[in-house]
Amino acid sequence: MKKIFSHSYFALGSLLLLASACGGSLDIPQLQTESATASATHFSQTLYPILKDRCSSCHATTQAPFFALPNDIQSSFNTIMNSAGLVDFDTPQLSRIYLKVQGGHNCWNNCSTNSDSLLQAIQNWKTLNVSP
Ligand code: HEC
Repeated sequence: MKKIFSHSYFALGSLLLLASACGGSLDIPQLQTESATASATHFSQTLYPILKDRCSSCHATTQAPFFALPNDIQSSFNTIMNSAGLVDFDTPQLSRIYLKVQGGHNCWNNCSTNSDSLLQAIQNWKTLNVSP
C-alpha cells in the first residue's frame, strides 16, 4: 500500500510535468489519485464478482491468497493490494490473477475466454480509478 501511494505521488508529479509539456494522452499507473475506498468500490463493480463466483471455493478460507471472500469485499481487496503482482495496474497483462487462469488454473469452461474476462475486469477497474 505504501509503495503504491508513494509511487502515485511520484507519478502525479511526473504527470503534471508531462501534461504541461505536451498535453498528450498519458499512461497513468496504479491507484492514481483515487482513494483506496473508491478503488475498493470499483473493485466491487468489476473484478470482485468474477472472483467471488469462480474462485471462492478455494480462495476464501482454505487456499491463500485470500482474494475471493464471498461476504467480504474489503478483505478481498486488501489481499490484492498487499500481494505484489496479483493485479498489476501498470501492465494488466502481467496480473497473476489473469496469467494463472490463462495457464489453465481452474478455468470454468474455456481458459482463453475466462482469462480474457478477468483481464477485461482488471482493465475496467483501472479505467474507473483513472476516470471515476
Ligand atoms: C479448486 C481450488 C481452487 C480454485 C477454485 C481456484 N484456485 Fe487458485 N489456487 C489453488 C491452489 C491449490 C493454489 C496454490 C498452488 C498453485 O499455485 O497452483 C492456488 C494458487 C493461486 C494463485 C497464486 C499463485 C501465484 O503464483 O500467484 C493465484 C493467482 C490463483 N490461484 C488464482 C486463481 C483464480 C483467479 C481463481 C478463480 C478463477 C482460482 N485461483 C481458483 C486452488 C484453487
